[in-house]
Amino acid sequence: MRFVSPNFSDLLEPNIEMKTFPDGDDYVLLPGIKKEDSTLFHRLYPNQDNALIQAVLMLDTLKRAGAPTTFVSPYLPYSRQDKTFKEGEALSAEIVCNILVNAGAKKLVTIDCHFLKKEGTFTYGGLEIENISANKLLIEHAMAKLQKAGEIEVIGPDVGARYLVEEFGGKSMEKKRGEYQEGGEAYRKIESIERTFEVKGKNILILDDMISTGGTMIKAVENVKKGGAEKVFCAATHGFFLKNSLEKLKGVCNGVFVTNSIPSKASEVSIAPLIEKYF
Ligand code: R5P
Repeated sequence: MRFVSPNFSDLLEPNIEMKTFPDGDDYVLLPGIKKEDSTLFHRLYPNQDNALIQAVLMLDTLKRAGAPTTFVSPYLPYSRQDKTFKEGEALSAEIVCNILVNAGAKKLVTIDCHFLKKEGTFTYGGLEIENISANKLLIEHAMAKLQKAGEIEVIGPDVGARYLVEEFGGKSMEKKRGEYQEGGEAYRKIESIERTFEVKGKNILILDDMISTGGTMIKAVENVKKGGAEKVFCAATHGFFLKNSLEKLKGVCNGVFVTNSIPSKASEVSIAPLIEKYF
């Protein structure tokens, strides 16, 4: 059976009933649940903690009904916390995968999962993950936009983005972050982005797996513009656009676009072709 959460309604007709109790607890009902292979479509962002609990409620309900479930969620929250640097820090990426597999996910299908950095099927935190990349769709979109302006060179803003660009002959810059700052926000400021290749006179697409606060992209745009790049576009699979970063980025480059893994005003590329085999 196919179960679709209301937060997937832009891509498929939802059929899961979801309500909230007066105290904020979630209520879910999966109509027609049966003991057979099932697929669950549910986004884990925005409101990731709440969305995770909803996923656990749905997956466990399917498990109790004897339905082995493939869970399709385009963005996996906590995926940037796959390493610890200090004793006592939580290994959040692994913990979230443990939670999903224990809740009953037979497999997670996701897009550009931050800690995997390549396409394919992997096991992490006990969870089987099929990781699909949106890089080709994003690059094709940039080319279509630039039809009149000639060729485009694709580059990554940091080493982590290399896998997105290298099969298209793209190179990556190097990013250095500082330490966590004082206060309640866990954020490491970007100290520098360095480049060892020429961009002078070229149209550039800077491609990353995500644009969160926009700090990486803004620094990367500054770098290539300083290097004499012609037109500069910014693209990513997942666009959070925190801290007004969509507007800031639009002000410094020739275009910003992302997929609808997290729907936003900049979602120009649909993820449907990447996951439609599960529709
Ligand atoms: C980090 O390694 C990621 O690939 C992104 O470069 C990063 O998370 C983007 O975050 P921000 O937009 O806050 O710089």
